[in-house]
Amino acid sequence: MPHDNDIRNQSSNRPFEDILKASLSRRNVLKRSAVMSAAGFMGAFVGKSLLAKGAAAATNLSSGTLLAQASGLLGFTAVKIADAVVDPATPTISDEYEYQSLIPWGTSIQPGGPEYTGNPNTRPTAAEQASQVGIGHDGIWFFAKNGTSNTEGMLCVNHEFGRNSHVLGKEAPESLEDVRLSQHAHGVSVVAIKKSGGKWERVASQNSRRIHVNTEVEFSGPVAGHPLLQNSANNVPQGTLNNCGSGYTPWGTYLTCEENFNGYFGSSAGDAFVPDENQDRYGFSSTGFGYGWEQYDERFNLSNPNYANEQHRFGWIVEIDPEDGSKKAVKRTALGRFKHEGFAFATGSGGRAVGYMGDDQRFDYCYKFVSQANWRSMRARGLSPFDYGKLYVAQFRESGTGRWLELTIRNPKLKAKFKDQAEVLTFARVAADILGATPMDRPEWTTVANDGAIFWAMTNNSRRSETGPGSPLAPNPDGHILRMVDGNNHIGTTFTWTIPFIAEDTHADGDETTFSDPDALWADSFGRLFIGTDGGQQKGLNNQLLVADPATGEICRLFTGVASDEITGIAITPDQTTLFTNTQHPGNGDPTLTNFPAATDGVTIPRDSTIVITRKNGGLVGS
Ligand code: FEO
Ligand code: CA
Ligand code: CA
Repeated sequence: MPHDNDIRNQSSNRPFEDILKASLSRRNVLKRSAVMSAAGFMGAFVGKSLLAKGAAAATNLSSGTLLAQASGLLGFTAVKIADAVVDPATPTISDEYEYQSLIPWGTSIQPGGPEYTGNPNTRPTAAEQASQVGIGHDGIWFFAKNGTSNTEGMLCVNHEFGRNSHVLGKEAPESLEDVRLSQHAHGVSVVAIKKSGGKWERVASQNSRRIHVNTEVEFSGPVAGHPLLQNSANNVPQGTLNNCGSGYTPWGTYLTCEENFNGYFGSSAGDAFVPDENQDRYGFSSTGFGYGWEQYDERFNLSNPNYANEQHRFGWIVEIDPEDGSKKAVKRTALGRFKHEGFAFATGSGGRAVGYMGDDQRFDYCYKFVSQANWRSMRARGLSPFDYGKLYVAQFRESGTGRWLELTIRNPKLKAKFKDQAEVLTFARVAADILGATPMDRPEWTTVANDGAIFWAMTNNSRRSETGPGSPLAPNPDGHILRMVDGNNHIGTTFTWTIPFIAEDTHADGDETTFSDPDALWADSFGRLFIGTDGGQQKGLNNQLLVADPATGEICRLFTGVASDEITGIAITPDQTTLFTNTQHPGNGDPTLTNFPAATDGVTIPRDSTIVITRKNGGLVGS
């Protein structure tokens, strides 16, 4: 999304930039290779000239061993830049592939309901929007029917944001009805879908539903029931918002991640509003992002004492059961409160549930959660693995190693600041500052590969103040991908790290693999890394979906979106023959840039949409 460009981290913690720079200047390629697996070697060193692609690079860099690893994982024809830029108003896709649009903004959740199809002279009513697919498609996952179907299931899609100009057709709300329309366009859609006649379509289901800003939700974990979540207005917990990345669990639930929640709050006090320390660390201000909700809905007015703790009800990861429409969404407070990008699940030693989570702001942190016990046995006892466990924040070291610092009230440094564990979790950023976590370059999505390696998309950080010899990352306006191997099969307190991809290294003239601002990430079981981008791409490209092989450095362009959009979220059927991604904010809502998914007519309002990608003749997506 158009991002909160501020820096909220005022700690003096040593930034990753500094650590990487020192690390690169101290080590050469061979030394670095010794601390990582052979598969990671190609990417381990990322000097500009070395990050040439694929087999050719392997030939230059080392002997036949690495060349043999150029495994040909990426067998499809990459979209050429020249072809992708011909018509910025429409997507392009690899020759062997085809795509369709599915559940764009305004689609009725159930067949037969009211539909909004982009008429520039109207918008949905707030009531209609509450039963329609929202806007700002982002995190996504496909829950196959019976866990195995490749043609039928529940699709969960996040609705991260929609500007007032796009959703309301005006810059500011003029009534509570306008605010409700905006609120109902946010949240999550759970939609039954099915493939018939070669096309995917929405179908009826009692479990299809909208969860938006006014839907009742529950809290669980250490902060549930705490005064920090109680208002004197005594209003029940409602809503999820700015749902960005996502995750999924082996027990079949969807995890939606609340990111820039601060921007929806404002203050009736105007300039007289002065954020306290915690509010400042999370970026609250008197006007927020300009949605204006606080003018008509007191829940979002930071200066109304009756709703003083409403702000603490957002910034969590929320668990949704896509197969049971009667269940409320649950905010899992043990996972901490910050600007959650996504959640990548791993089963660690002892069968514990582990999650890797980025906090997407310039100079904010990487976190992980480890459940207290085996997730299967916890669930068998009726406990959520996400309600009991430890939350850690990452501290990176120059040596290519790092450690996880536990956010616990038992730590005297945190005990000196906070009353209890609920406060530590609610103000996780502040606690992480105190522990000396490493400020990063905007951690976006995270994914865990089959070999256990964790990949983190660090989308960019143009606010770097230093450049230095040996460091390609200061400033780092185009981002990189970090690979981590976590100790003790995900539950340890140490890790190692390398950098397999730096976007800037793909920007040379004639380089067809160019990309910037990696954001969405998903690793398949063959070692391929799918990368969705969000930012200014080079060479006239729109945002794109790429497939990369971290073992060889190869990058192949699968799909490009439309003008001013962002490619968000990656989901897959169990057999990997169908991939779901999204175009978010196509044209930024401007019909003169694109009318997608409608045919180009210069008038129809473009709508955020899921994009379904398949091979024309069947087969695995990405191969
Ligand atoms: Fe919503 Fe950090 O992307
Ligand atoms: Ca993102
Ligand atoms: Ca982004």
